Formats: sequence, structure tokens, C-alpha cells
Amino acid sequence: MHTQQDMEVKLLKGYSWKRCSLAQDKGPLRCHIKKGFILLLTLTFLLSAIVYFSDFTLKTTAPPPGTWYKNVVNQIRSFYMSIEFPYGRDNQAIFIASAPTPKTHQQVQQRATQISKQTTDISVHYHIAHPSNYHYILDEPDKCQESPFLVLMVPVAPHQVEARNAIRSTWGNESTVQGKAVMTLFLVGLTGGSDSEKAQQQLEEESRQHRDLLQSNFVDSYFNLTIKTMVIMDWLATRCPQASFSMKVDSDMYLNLENLVTLLLAPNTPRQNYITGMVMWNRPVVRNKNSKWYVSEESYPEPIYPTYLLGMGYVFSNDLPEKIVEASKEIKAFNIEDAYVGACVKHLGITPSSPPDPSQFRAYLGQYKREDFLRVITTILGSPQQLIDIWKDVKRAT
Ligand SMILES: *[C@@H]1O[C@H](CO)[C@@H](O)[C@H](O)[C@H]1NC(C)=O
Ligand SMILES: *[C@@H]1O[C@H](CO)[C@@H](O)[C@H](O)[C@H]1NC(C)=O
Repeated sequence: MHTQQDMEVKLLKGYSWKRCSLAQDKGPLRCHIKKGFILLLTLTFLLSAIVYFSDFTLKTTAPPPGTWYKNVVNQIRSFYMSIEFPYGRDNQAIFIASAPTPKTHQQVQQRATQISKQTTDISVHYHIAHPSNYHYILDEPDKCQESPFLVLMVPVAPHQVEARNAIRSTWGNESTVQGKAVMTLFLVGLTGGSDSEKAQQQLEEESRQHRDLLQSNFVDSYFNLTIKTMVIMDWLATRCPQASFSMKVDSDMYLNLENLVTLLLAPNTPRQNYITGMVMWNRPVVRNKNSKWYVSEESYPEPIYPTYLLGMGYVFSNDLPEKIVEASKEIKAFNIEDAYVGACVKHLGITPSSPPDPSQFRAYLGQYKREDFLRVITTILGSPQQLIDIWKDVKRAT
């Protein structure tokens, strides 16, 4: 980048100097006017060129965060975007990431209000998945007072009470592992459907009983999992920054906390900028419209995702949530939550780590064998009942 910039500056200087020396004999004033005009033309051309090329280069090779180059490019891009979409084209327009300057911020908000007339209760900041757009209906702001070592965050649908109860009676019921405090919390979105009021009352009752429910005011749907994950990151960043590690773990997972805590306590495990799980390399973006993983070119233009951790369960040092929420302001949202976290992590210049034993993060283990479940950290199960059954068998004295 710097060589390119230097070249541009040299070109600029050389050009105006040459023109001026040619015009020298026509008097110094004309020379200055001409010099100024040419400088203006050249600048306009250069800025356009930067904007044009940044559309390709920024997405593939993001320069290190905080460089002046990136800031300039972002400013210019937001400016051009506000020209390009003065009325907002469609809902996608609110997905446009913009530089967090007060001016563009306001523009995005204005555009968003124009676009989403039916959702007037939210004014969209940055993009729809940014957690600043939502607030907590159920919260546990004091949960982390005792500085847990590990926080397990489980995204779950409001009606999945059976899955929550299975977790509460198995790995969610462990409060100390190898002397380290562990905690499990569930995050749900809004209750929906015709009996949503009743469902909300039940949820509040469940919350009073267990004190482990968080609820945020976004529509709870498969398509909105990225919002759910970003709200999880927000909760960790704002309510639980004192924890050492966290894990986003789905509600249909088996979790062996002994093995997980052993991994986190290992001397080689970094305490910062660390994220691990089942690493996905070079995954193609699904463009088949019938797939539940379909992502439009408009939401995510590149054909391959950045390296990310499979969403079933990934573990990270707890400095990351705040950084991810911050990075997310500049990363256009798309509906694949794990790949989206991967994009934020890449933007931070962090590479996901392969676990010391990659076979401990398994999608499926196949036929039940007790020794597999003694060795693994996490794996996908078929039902809440299966979790209860396997847990009993794994925990039985031998
Ligand atoms: C959690 O474990 C304790 C023992 O440590 C037990 O008494 C309690 O019943 C368990 N809770 C659930 C929901 O299974
Ligand atoms: C996702 O959540 C937003 C915010 O609540 C909502 O406006 C939108 O309709 C939801 N989308 C889907 C497909 O559920």
C-alpha cells in the first residue's frame, strides 16, 4: 500500500511541477492557478481510483486495522455509498457497513428508517446484526461478579425448553471444573406465533426459577442467528468482561467440560486473541437458493469464506467478544453466523487456532462408544434425551 501511495504522490508532484515549469514564462500567477487546478483534477482522479480499487482489494486483503489508508478509504466509500443509495434500494442497504463517523452513522440511521417502515421500533446502527440495535428483555447483569473462568453461551429458540432442561441437568449443572468456576447461560430472541404472550410468561417464569436466561428483542429465527451470536458477544463484552474464556455452544451438543478445561489450562493455550474449535478452511459460499445456508452475492460477494470455526461449538479467550463487536461495525452482516464471526476475526488480524487434538471437536461420532465421549470435547447429538442418557453413562463410576 505504501509503495503505491508513494508512487501516487511522486506522480502528482512530478506532474504539476512539469506543467508549471512549462507555464513559467506566462507569469507566476497563471502558473499557480493552473497548478491548483491540475492538483484538484489529479486528486479527484486519485480518490476515485482508490474508491474503485478498494472495492476489490479491501475485501480480499484488508490492511491492518487502524491504518490511515483504511480510514481514508472507508470515509470515501461511505460518502460514495450515500450518493449511490440516497433512498435505500431495499433491505440489503441496511447491511452496508460504514465507517463509524458521526455523519455516516446518521446517514445509515436515516436510510434505515426510510427502508424498514414496518420495524420502526429499531433504528439500525451499522447493520442489522450489530448488537447496538437491540436491548435485553431478560438479563442477568450480576452473573459474572465472581469472575468465572469459563462462560458457556447457548443460543436457543424460546420454545426449546426441553433442550435447556437437558443441559441444566448435564453439563450446564457443573459449576466448578478442576477448581475453576464455570457458568452456563441461554440466549433467546422474541417469542413469536399466536400465543407469544403466553410463551413470554412461561419464559419469565423459567427465568425466575433458574436465573440463566437472557432474552433480546430481535425476531428469533434461523435466518437471524448472526444477530443472536452478536448479542452473545455483546453480553460477554458488557456484562462479563472479567471471565477468562467463553464458548458459544449450540443446544444440541454434548460437552465434556473436564477435557475443555484441561485444554484451556494448558500452558500452550494463549490467554488472548485465541479462538479454537473445528476449523473450516476454504469453505465455498452456498449459492443454491433452496439451501438453508444460501447467501446472496449481495450479502457476501466473495465465493470462499475466511477461515472460521464451525458454529456447533467454538471457544475463545474472553478479550475477543468486545473486539468482535467493534470489528463488526465494519463487516457487512450475512446470515451464516459462524462464517460471519470468522470474517470479524480475520478483520482483527487473528487466525483461528487448530486445537492441539483436532479430533476433540467432532461433528458426529457415529455409533455410541463410551470411550469416544470420554475423549472428545464437543460433538453434535440427536436429541435432549440422548444427552441425558449419554451423560449418565459417561459419568457412571467404573
Ligand atoms: C445439579 O447437581 C446437583 C448436585 O451437584 C444436584 O443436586 C441437582 O439436582 C442438579 N440439578 C439438576 C437440574 O439436575
Ligand atoms: C431478523 O430480525 C430482525 C430484527 O428483529 C427482523 O426485523 C427480521 O424480520 C428478522 N428476519 C427474519 C428472517 O426472521
